[in-house]
Amino acid sequence: MGNDLSTALKSKKNGILNNKNSDFNNVYEINHRKSSMSITRFPVIESNIDEENGRHEHLLKVWGSNFFSPIESILESGDAKVLEIGCGFGSWIYDMAKNYPLSHFTGIDINNPKYATLPNVSLTQGDVLEGLPYPDCTFDYIHFRDFLWSISSKDASNKLFPELVRILKPGGWIEGIEFDVNILNVGPNTKFLNDALFNHIRNNGIHPEEFYNNISKLFKKHNLEYQVEERILCFADHDLSKKRFVTFYKTIKSMILEYTSISYKKYDEILDKSCVELVEYRTSYRSIRYFGKKLIA
Ligand SMILES: C[S@@+](CC[C@H](N)C(=O)[O-])C[C@H]1O[C@@H](n2cnc3c(N)ncnc32)[C@H](O)[C@@H]1O
Repeated sequence: MGNDLSTALKSKKNGILNNKNSDFNNVYEINHRKSSMSITRFPVIESNIDEENGRHEHLLKVWGSNFFSPIESILESGDAKVLEIGCGFGSWIYDMAKNYPLSHFTGIDINNPKYATLPNVSLTQGDVLEGLPYPDCTFDYIHFRDFLWSISSKDASNKLFPELVRILKPGGWIEGIEFDVNILNVGPNTKFLNDALFNHIRNNGIHPEEFYNNISKLFKKHNLEYQVEERILCFADHDLSKKRFVTFYKTIKSMILEYTSISYKKYDEILDKSCVELVEYRTSYRSIRYFGKKLIA
């Protein structure tokens, strides 16, 4: 099987593959690109509603709560103003707005968010790297999820976080859940898919190996008093995790096919084999939750 794949990967496509080595581990080396790549934006992945609802269901089950910051009382009393950046279709917002009908929820996404239609929800289309269209000290709580890998580390640090801190009230909270792209105990087909994804990420100025530490650095650098929680999730133990893995790799299929020379059909076969491997190898990943408070000046 490894040989089949190595052969399939021999041709160079779009100047991205450096096929000096047919070893499964090395076929994806990227040719060095110009340094300007370090600030290139990561292309937006077109999500779909099923994938997003699956992600929401899954994360809620794993973490047991939609938030960890101590905001329950203001959410209940109705004083809370909440923002989610990169809200997607708004499945998190919809759940929160239903649970806390007296508080107000705002979502912003570069794609037009339109799912969470409730009276206490406002959804806006916008690129968060173009500045956030809200006055200083507006929100009590800002949330993001599976978002930071959509933008470069530089943009997160120089453009996004200063804006988040600006629009957050003193004493307000910022919270994010991200998954560590360095998945653990991978079989060969899973590694193939993951390496292609890594190359896409690297090619857009994000270093997957540093991702976990970078988020902590972001909170520290922007003077947020933060805590980190982590869960290790084994795909074999959660049907929803496996479902999410498949929908995720289906969603990004055409994007990461650019980094291989395999056909659509072959990709599907690899994905099927990878699903079997998830159980066989007990493949796992880390889900990391960061929540930090803006200090009162
Ligand atoms: C992986 S999805 C997460 C969606 C949602 N937060 C969730 O957890 O279900 C990342 C979202 O970020 C959005 N996004 C990426 N870059 C963005 C940007 N620069 N400004 C606003 N939204 C962006 C994408 O359109 C996508 O909906």
